[in-house]
Amino acid sequence: MTVEPKRIAVTGAAGQICYSLLFRIANGDVYGKDTPVILQLLDLPQAQKAVRGVVMELEDCAFPLLRDVVITDDPADAFRDIDAGFFVGSRPRTAGMERRDLLNANAEIFRTQGRALDAAAKRDAKVIVVGNPANTNAMILAANAPGFPTENITAMLRLDHNRALTQFAQRGGVGVDEIRKLVVWGNHSPTMFADWRNATAAGKPLPDVIGDETWYRDTLIPTVGKRGAAIIEARGASSAASAANAAIDHMRDWIKGSDGDWVSMGISSDGSYGIPEGLMCGVPVICANGSYERVQGLEINAFQQQMLDRTVAELVEERDAVSALL
Ligand code: NAD
Ligand code: LMR
Repeated sequence: MTVEPKRIAVTGAAGQICYSLLFRIANGDVYGKDTPVILQLLDLPQAQKAVRGVVMELEDCAFPLLRDVVITDDPADAFRDIDAGFFVGSRPRTAGMERRDLLNANAEIFRTQGRALDAAAKRDAKVIVVGNPANTNAMILAANAPGFPTENITAMLRLDHNRALTQFAQRGGVGVDEIRKLVVWGNHSPTMFADWRNATAAGKPLPDVIGDETWYRDTLIPTVGKRGAAIIEARGASSAASAANAAIDHMRDWIKGSDGDWVSMGISSDGSYGIPEGLMCGVPVICANGSYERVQGLEINAFQQQMLDRTVAELVEERDAVSALL
């Protein structure tokens, strides 16, 4: 049976995340080894030459699944008939900045691209926003694409989820693949809340396996929250290969399923857990059959509530700062 190629838009194609991401997509890491792909690459006019260079390298990999590549500086061309969109293009922060400092620099990009998404994409396209501040950019994108289903626009919390997995696995002396039901709630910012309350390691409660609540509160939570800054400090540039990997994990699970496990996704709030409706907030979801379901009905204790309130308050502040674009 012939499998139709999937059209995948990627913005910021000349940038450092895409230098890893594009090769992984072309290798079949999102849709699988039986599905051809067509890449629709967007970047600014001044970056077109660099994009052409990246495409030369894609060609030189001779990926069997890569059917075609479109290079453009026009969002409507990039988003035409897409099945999936990776919204990476935007300015990264540098040392000393918080991600929210990028709000004004990057908000306008997502307004313009929201309109183009609305005009050009298939209604069932799956969208992930990676460009920072990812949650609020995703909200701007959704607000400017009123004819496009908001549930198909998501923000990336998966890098934070993966970071937390490794920190817990190292501390607990278990494999990352033995940990389940972990979640990172809230904003992709230092206020994010890596929550171990329901997590298990090899079937046992993770808090019991680690047995050190002080380490969890005073070390794990801030380490995960500030990991992006630690990487900028060490590398002199923001995370790239790990960010690309997280975007692949997020989209692959959304398309193929998360095997009953929880994953963290920034999705538009329906009011669950007291999170104001419409905020793009990291929550636990289970992916199956090409869609996701938020995990409902969790009992939230006082510590969790305090951590959730803090990160949600920051998302509300960000929303209020860009209210003119919503
Ligand atoms: P980069 O500067 O290397 O690349 C960004 C690219 O976007 C450049 O090629 C630039 O020309 C392009 N661009 C800028 N404005 C554009 C527009 N309007 N349309 C299309 N392309 C545009 O940056 P990077 O390191 O690849 O990071 C990209 C973004 O991802 C940054 O905002 C960064 O902070 C963010 N990021 C998010 C996460 C996350 O977990 N959510 C992780 C890492 C990085
Ligand atoms: C990250 O978490 O690595 C990215 O969001 C980049 C940053 O600015 O921290």
